Amino acid sequence: MPDRRRGVNLGNALDSLDGPGRPITAPQLELIRSAGFDTVRLPVAWAAHADPGPSYAIDPAFRRRVDDALDLAAAAGLAVIINVHHYRELMLQPARHEARFLALWRQLAGHLAGRSQPIAIELLNEPTAALDAEAWNRLLVPAWEIVREADRTVEVVIGSASMNGFEALAELELPRDPHVTATIHYYEPMPFTHQGADWIPGATFPVGRRWGTPDEVEAVQADLAAVRAWSDRHGIPVLVGEFGSHDRAVFGDRVHWTRVVREELDRHEFDWCYWDLTGDFGLYDLAAGRWRSELMEALGLDASGD
Ligand code: BGC
Repeated sequence: MPDRRRGVNLGNALDSLDGPGRPITAPQLELIRSAGFDTVRLPVAWAAHADPGPSYAIDPAFRRRVDDALDLAAAAGLAVIINVHHYRELMLQPARHEARFLALWRQLAGHLAGRSQPIAIELLNEPTAALDAEAWNRLLVPAWEIVREADRTVEVVIGSASMNGFEALAELELPRDPHVTATIHYYEPMPFTHQGADWIPGATFPVGRRWGTPDEVEAVQADLAAVRAWSDRHGIPVLVGEFGSHDRAVFGDRVHWTRVVREELDRHEFDWCYWDLTGDFGLYDLAAGRWRSELMEALGLDASGD
């Protein structure tokens, strides 16, 4: 993997639960690379493309789509972080879905780790609901073992419970393994970054919430300093696999928030991946065919070439 990763999520593509999702194309990946990113995080809704019954077989056509995306990332010179995304049934009924979750990794681990390209394997996006810290600490061990048995050194990325919340790092129990990275998602404060979002269970945050007072900036700095302290205490690197804000917020506030968060991530030497490329948190304006250059500048990247 690159020394430090600056990445973008390819969301709403292979993670789509309704329809095939956005296509992943060579020009798109080349654009990402030429803007200065070195990594893409590839969220994949494997569970939505696998047999519900005990063969748990992943649909071969879907596997090919994922392989094609991996080939394109490799051709563009981008490292990949690939995960199991949107496995809602596992969150709701962990005991019932444990065997199926592990069967997915049995089918995938050797294949992904064996690819001749820089790749990191993230066991599960955003454990939540009944998959609380205790249940997740138990389940992550056999999942990690499956990947580790397939490959001795491939990087395994493991997130905290509570939707990869940074405070839940305190409860995360990781195997002793020099090739494990912890991951969190950073969207604080949620009423700002998720204003107007309709997909948060039990909470719709009203639009109009501004962000950027000195106290609010300090709160972000304190959160991320706490993550650095956790990382130092445990000697485990941290990847911030998602951070971003909804386009219902005031654009200037989003740019400010993105800059402050990214500067802290860089100061603490965390790898990061922005959420996401073309969705409603997106860096790239699909309709206009160009980067949102102020957001890119806030990420320390230069989109002026397009
Ligand atoms: C989810 C997306 C969502 C984003 C921000 C991701 O983990 O997959 O659907 O837009 O988080 O909430």
